[in-house]
Amino acid sequence: MSLLELDGVSRQFGGLWAVRGVSLSVPAGRITGLIGPNGAGKSTIVNMIAGLTALTEGRILLDGAEIHRQQPGQVARLGIARTFQNVRLLNEASVVENIAVACHHHQGVSAMAEVFGLGTARAAQAQAYARARELIAMFDMERYSDFLAGELSYGHQRRVEIMRALAMKPRVVLLDEPVAGMNDVEAQQLAVHFRRLASEGIALLLIEHNMQFVMSLSDQVHVIAAGELMTSGTPREVRNDPRVIAAYLGDEQCSA
Ligand SMILES: Nc1ncnc2c1ncn2[C@@H]1O[C@H](COP(=O)(O)OP(=O)(O)OP(=O)(O)O)[C@@H](O)[C@H]1O
Ligand SMILES: [Mg+2]
Repeated sequence: MSLLELDGVSRQFGGLWAVRGVSLSVPAGRITGLIGPNGAGKSTIVNMIAGLTALTEGRILLDGAEIHRQQPGQVARLGIARTFQNVRLLNEASVVENIAVACHHHQGVSAMAEVFGLGTARAAQAQAYARARELIAMFDMERYSDFLAGELSYGHQRRVEIMRALAMKPRVVLLDEPVAGMNDVEAQQLAVHFRRLASEGIALLLIEHNMQFVMSLSDQVHVIAAGELMTSGTPREVRNDPRVIAAYLGDEQCSA
């Protein structure tokens, strides 16, 4: 059994099955791609894993234990971090503050401060800033540490989102279109980080419309269309599947 497992996961919104009967595995130390046309149900899957959207049917298991009835905060504490398709940062706070807040949150500082007093809270805060600076250095963002998040380019804001996710030292990272709006150089820089995270044993679920990016990085790719799993395989298998090509051509025609 893989670290994260989706077992017959479905979600209905009104009369619409946004996701229907999806089973897939997200193993540790691997990059798992999830692709599909606009509206296929990809973000809904991420939201269900993260505990933000309730399941209509099915189960989600982490290390064999059901997690799909947990609240988002609990899912995060179990080691599942995510980024949002639309970047969500504290625009009026600096880069280092944005990341430190995420570390702090993870440490459960307010409860600790109540029990042990302010000294512990200060120590936790110092630790959170140290971790934030470590991540900033890892992502070559030192010169932007004190910039307000709202002042950054879109590509840099996306990086900060990823650092916020990593601040919690997760076992699973759900990336909802992490390179959207980035140029190829920026995307390739992130690819290096994603490979490193996988080599450290983290399970990555990568949603992307940038085909070249997702195909070059993923060990296994799952394709969903209209909420249902269409096919799964290696990037090579998926790229040559006529049903996948047809689904994407249909999508391009719709959005043209
Ligand atoms: N909260 C909601 N209420 C009602 N319908 C929703 C809700 N969230 C998503 N949907 C619908 O569910 C379907 C799947 O949406 P979802 O955002 O998961 O697609 P996606 O694959 O992430 O698309 P994109 O590639 O455009 O981000 C769409 O038809 C969408 O309109
Ligand atoms: Mg989406």
